[in-house]
Amino acid sequence: MKIVKTIAEVRAQVKEWRAQGLTVGLVPTMGYLHEGHASLIDASHRDNDRTVVSDFVNPMQFSPSEDLESYPRDIQHDAELVEAHGGDLIFHPEPEEMYHKGFSSFVDMSVLTEELCGISRPIHFRGVCTVVSKLFNIVQPDRAYFGKKDAQQLAVIRHMVDDLNMNLEIIGCPIIREDDGLAKSSRNTYLNDAERKAALVLSQAVTIGTELVRNGETDCNVILNQMKQHIQSEPLAKIDYVKMVDAETMQQIPVLDRPALCAMAVYIGKTRLIDNFFTEDI
Ligand code: PAF
Repeated sequence: MKIVKTIAEVRAQVKEWRAQGLTVGLVPTMGYLHEGHASLIDASHRDNDRTVVSDFVNPMQFSPSEDLESYPRDIQHDAELVEAHGGDLIFHPEPEEMYHKGFSSFVDMSVLTEELCGISRPIHFRGVCTVVSKLFNIVQPDRAYFGKKDAQQLAVIRHMVDDLNMNLEIIGCPIIREDDGLAKSSRNTYLNDAERKAALVLSQAVTIGTELVRNGETDCNVILNQMKQHIQSEPLAKIDYVKMVDAETMQQIPVLDRPALCAMAVYIGKTRLIDNFFTEDI
């Protein structure tokens, strides 16, 4: 397993693999890898001959008030995890390698990015689409792997690939949870003991929502109100949003008459956490 820092090194390695007729999977990450990322690497390792993991905290997807500086980083730990899960190459560039002086081209998407997280993070998806397009151009993978925890991101990337005729397959992988239900996230490390306990309201709300849907409830307000009531019962929790949207367009729906995504963002103290369920997965 190799770690490289330049685009030229990634291209040279992928060219060599291609010359041998090998397939390539890409797992884009911002590092500080956990079992959620490991499951994406496992999936890529299963489907492809070689797996590239990008490990880059992308400044373009953070607004000035967000946690770019404090975002956790540990490349040594990441390298061990990638190796243990069969990854072949880590691309770990400096920001200057990805965004040279004078960088001024962006991938911007309307509609899908204007709902859910796009409301409180208005520049986020422009940064995600731009860096993910660059990674696709650099690695030119056959497949790329994204977690369903970032459900809106997954929908946005699928849409971008379709809109811009990008020649690869996007694979969405299930949310990986701690034993008590909390969705794995690099940001969970920000939580103190009391907040860690309080954060369980997110996965508990997911359970409440999925149970209602499983029992045949189709009125989105009924489902969302019960989920919100539960979250609001926790004093450390502050809801950013809890919404039911069309799973493809990310637009809000009043009734479950199509595949839907129930998504939430909740502040636990200062930490903003997300969780969700797709009705099709129930
Ligand atoms: O999901 C993430 O970790 C990031 O948004 C991604 C896709 C690696 C782009 O920086």
